[in-house]
Amino acid sequence: MTRTYAATGLFVCFEGGEGGGKSTQSRLLRDWLEGQGHTVRLTYEPGDTSVGKELRRIVLDPATGALANRTEVLLYAADKAEHVDTVVLPALERGEVVITDRYVDSSLAYQGAGRVEDLAGVEAVQRWATRDLRPHLTVVLDLEPADGLGRFEGRDRIEGESLEFHQRVRAKFLALAADDPGHYLVLDARQGIDEIHAAIRERVAPLLGQVAP
Ligand code: TMP
Repeated sequence: MTRTYAATGLFVCFEGGEGGGKSTQSRLLRDWLEGQGHTVRLTYEPGDTSVGKELRRIVLDPATGALANRTEVLLYAADKAEHVDTVVLPALERGEVVITDRYVDSSLAYQGAGRVEDLAGVEAVQRWATRDLRPHLTVVLDLEPADGLGRFEGRDRIEGESLEFHQRVRAKFLALAADDPGHYLVLDARQGIDEIHAAIRERVAPLLGQVAP
């Protein structure tokens, strides 16, 4: 399968299990980049479009109950298709930095490995939905699932899955990173916030050559 990287802008993605600090770190990265004069679009999946908000409610609300695995794959794919076409690609075409909290790897990890659904099928659907657009860099904030899940009180449909499910998710993120180290940065999420932010800055800085401040 071909891999497509945007020729303009910079596409950075945060991935990992629950409670690893993705939203904190994505905000810190945004603030640092804006401080340097970059235009940044901080976004997330699922849910950062009007239809995405509806889709997020369906896939995460415990009231939805059980869904066929393929239904869940397609709902996440629909969110991604809308997100890439209306938010991510337009911003990259304007030469902006796009930082997204979760992307295709979450589907490979949660639906492919967590639900144990046909991984090649899950990947084909998500790649099609996203026009095979790949992040220039994916930051994986790695955490033992028992640590991350402990932080949640009311669990949504995904958080409420078993520890084994979340262990398969974690292993998949690490495997994806190990297969393509040039496009991944894996960090131990137990480190301090400042330490993690510094490691991310160090890895992102050389990539900024392709975006005009
Ligand atoms: P969030 O809580 O980090 O916003 O993510 C929402 C949940 O959705 C999280 O438990 C991971 C899950 N998820 C998937 O299962 N597949 C996907 O493709 C995405 C983007 C998220």
